[in-house]
Amino acid sequence: MVQDPPASGRISADAIRRRKGGVPIVSLTAYTYPVARLLDPHVDLLLVGDSVAMVLHGHTTTLGASLEMMIAHGQAVMRGSTRACVVVDMPAGSYETSTAEAVASARRIVEETGCQAVKLEGGVDMAGQIAAIVASGIPVMGHIGLQPQSVEKDGGYKIKGRTEDNVATLFRDAEAVEKAGAFSVVIEGTVESVAADLTRAVAIPTIGIGASRDCDGQILVIDDMVGLTVDRVPKFVKEYAHLRDVVSDAAARYAAEVRDRAFPGPDHVFAATPDKDNV
Ligand code: KIV
Repeated sequence: MVQDPPASGRISADAIRRRKGGVPIVSLTAYTYPVARLLDPHVDLLLVGDSVAMVLHGHTTTLGASLEMMIAHGQAVMRGSTRACVVVDMPAGSYETSTAEAVASARRIVEETGCQAVKLEGGVDMAGQIAAIVASGIPVMGHIGLQPQSVEKDGGYKIKGRTEDNVATLFRDAEAVEKAGAFSVVIEGTVESVAADLTRAVAIPTIGIGASRDCDGQILVIDDMVGLTVDRVPKFVKEYAHLRDVVSDAAARYAAEVRDRAFPGPDHVFAATPDKDNV
């Protein structure tokens, strides 16, 4: 069902924060203008995830994302949306070293895209960066549990919350992100019962991906959700469409018609006597 626009423009980060414990927050990633236009009427939040580096640019990890890449896709998504809260990911290498670097990068993202908030990965270790960006007036979404930017350090996409030690780390991370002033936090690739407990433990909304239906909201990568992902699809994805087959079938029919000289047909060419001037 298409959602009504908020009374005053876009859904703000603060409005997302107030959704804790309420109707689940519907979120998807978006990277382009047309997809943002298609998703905007249906979602509360669009994330310009650094997954764009893998999904659209073919990098093997999200470490291929740059600040310039995130800004270009953030601008496209802002042009294609009018109601969703748009959050842009801070790419690896743009915030970890110092709070000054984090604030400068976040400011650049917000000033050049006009997005509502930024997201960064990390818990206790990034609390200083989150607090500094929030203090500069920019809302921050946290990201704990499986953190794709740390996948090389972690030795793969490892599920979190399977040992007592790791559960304790997750609670410390969630509390640190909340205390630092984040308006919400993504919990990724985490044992279901742990994600549910984390949701009960913090006062900010949790957005689950490979987590739990008890989270305050859910997010999926758009290409995974519509069945366009050509490489491995994670277990936590539900494909609501099968666009791989649609695109592949359209390409096969187009190729056959071009080879048979059946395309372009009479409807797709211009007569010598013009009925109109523009294509
Ligand atoms: O980059 C991304 O798409 C993300 C989501 C998976 C939460 O961080």
